[in-house]
Amino acid sequence: MHDRKLVLVMVGLPARGKTHLARKLARYLSWLGHRTRVFNVGSYRRARLGAAQPASFFDPDNPDGLEARRRVAGEAIEDMLHWLRGDGAVGIYDATNTARTQRALVAARCQAVGVEVIFVESICDDPEVIEANIRQTKLMSPDYDGMDPEAAADDFRARIAHYQRVYEPVADDEGSYVKLIDLGEKLVAHRVEGHLQSRLVSFLLNTHASQRVVWLTRHGESLYNLAGRIGGNPDLSTRGEGYARALARFLEKRAEGDDPTPVVWTSTLKRSIQTARHTAWDKFSLRALDEIHAGSCEGMTYQEIEKQMPDEYQARARDKLRYRYPRGESYEDVIQRLEPVIIDLERQVRPVLLVGHNAVVRALYAYFMNWPPEVCPHLDVPLHTLIELSPTAYGCEERRFALEPAP
Ligand code: F6P
Repeated sequence: MHDRKLVLVMVGLPARGKTHLARKLARYLSWLGHRTRVFNVGSYRRARLGAAQPASFFDPDNPDGLEARRRVAGEAIEDMLHWLRGDGAVGIYDATNTARTQRALVAARCQAVGVEVIFVESICDDPEVIEANIRQTKLMSPDYDGMDPEAAADDFRARIAHYQRVYEPVADDEGSYVKLIDLGEKLVAHRVEGHLQSRLVSFLLNTHASQRVVWLTRHGESLYNLAGRIGGNPDLSTRGEGYARALARFLEKRAEGDDPTPVVWTSTLKRSIQTARHTAWDKFSLRALDEIHAGSCEGMTYQEIEKQMPDEYQARARDKLRYRYPRGESYEDVIQRLEPVIIDLERQVRPVLLVGHNAVVRALYAYFMNWPPEVCPHLDVPLHTLIELSPTAYGCEERRFALEPAP
């Protein structure tokens, strides 16, 4: 996909959502198959120097603090470059990097070993957003373990003030950058070229901070499920119809009073559309949500494939992620075609019910729960189970509801 290794260097004052963004980018890139890892300098500082450092430690006029911070920052960079020399593809260097000189050092170190650098700067001056970020994330940090919340918030504001004294936003002559202003209200990209790089910009353009629920489910039991056949375009079985009714009843209650109202996305296949039909919300059918295409094996049972096409059967058993059915798809293909769906999901502010299929739901679930691609084809997503995902500041909360088919 891209031949050069890449480092995303986060930039911005504390409490601007950098770590949240870094983790989101890492999840997206890893899901697409690029080995990505976040190197968070704060974690290095806590591990090497202990968590409880007062605001004065971050004072640019405190030479001991400055030296100690330089040391841990250097250690994180070297670890990241070491990892990129191996099988790592994208490193995300998560630190404030507020001073231009500091950024120049990071960029020079990366470029010396042939690694491309893009700065990702988060700019936000809205006091309410910053205060909310301090309350929701910073006070939970080990830096303030056991401390009175008001004293901790005061200390953190003092820390921000120290950084503010040395902060210089990234300038055009520093190289490639993306600036996210006010949590994505506005985005500025400068000299960002290449396929993966453009995908990153598109991801950042569409992602937002408001939280909403995503419900994932497979279609109800189909006639092919009953017969053990894969693919095809069968109708629901009687039990499957019952699940469709149970799903609508359950969600109607669960989403009562939701504003905005949820929206439903199905595949273009009958079993998915039939499963969603009792819900009262707006519905859209997307081809991208169709089940993995089993090519010449469509309509067969696994036993038939094993008997009639043993080489294919074994090849799939060896590498289910990369195996592509003859004239069909692999899980990797499914992930690639779901990428626009992920971008659209990121963009949504309405709760979304996605009625998909086994492989498709696995791939979407893997994105939200940050499962590596190799695990994705083996994830457990049973029939007649609704998965409720609620994105949080640093991940995703999951609840599962097994719904009994309703009369
Ligand atoms: O069996 C139902 C089904 O949705 C098939 O249509 C599809 O080929 C299969 O599940 C995907 O699961 P797996 O990748 O485990 O074969």
